[in-house]
Amino acid sequence: MLEGINANSTDPNTQQYLAAPICLLYKNVRNKILPIAIQLGQNPDENPVFLPTDSQYDWMLAKIWVRSADFQHHQTISHLLRTHLITEVFGIAMYRQLPAANATGGGGHVQLVQKAMKTLTYRSFCFPDMIKSRGMDSTEDLPTYFYRDDGYKVWEATKRTSITAVRIPYKHMLAKLESAEKTTYDEHFIESPVKGAMERFRKQLAEISSIIKRRNEEKKLPYYNMSPDKIPNSVAV
Ligand SMILES: [Fe+2]
Repeated sequence: MLEGINANSTDPNTQQYLAAPICLLYKNVRNKILPIAIQLGQNPDENPVFLPTDSQYDWMLAKIWVRSADFQHHQTISHLLRTHLITEVFGIAMYRQLPAANATGGGGHVQLVQKAMKTLTYRSFCFPDMIKSRGMDSTEDLPTYFYRDDGYKVWEATKRTSITAVRIPYKHMLAKLESAEKTTYDEHFIESPVKGAMERFRKQLAEISSIIKRRNEEKKLPYYNMSPDKIPNSVAV
């Protein structure tokens, strides 16, 4: 994805660089996933392969470049495009109040967003599909992938609530139509079950948070990323 993207030049006097690395990961017998080879560009003729047996700082720098590339990808694609920009589209469609386009300027991040947009699918926003498409769904092969396991729980609770919240008004309207009642449409019949569904949702989220908290208690490196009490409650963050 980062191949061919120009590094931003916020300061014209400072040359900035952007790597498009390939990092080979290995799962050892203790189920730890470790980097074992790094190539900092996509073309093998131009880019050497760094190994853990190289000099200490060469290997460390190679890992830093991978981390930096992952950071660029995360902030520009996972965060900016897949959170803010995509929800902005829905926001415009819903309210028709915002200007059609924001001035985003030039630079590598715009180039990167445009490139990522070409392969963006609705399905990739569905958590289990996204995990599967990355080949990370096997709990046998990857028994300690908490992002996936915690994410599934949050996804299921959110999905159940959304389905219920959408079904309630439709079921109610259908019942009205079938009974051919002439009474006015009473919002109370919708509001109260939706409130009930929201209440159950909050309870489920609290339960997931406490499961994650318990799991983390015995961990040297606790993982809280997908804990509902830590997930921002807005895309405006
Ligand atoms: Fe944000």
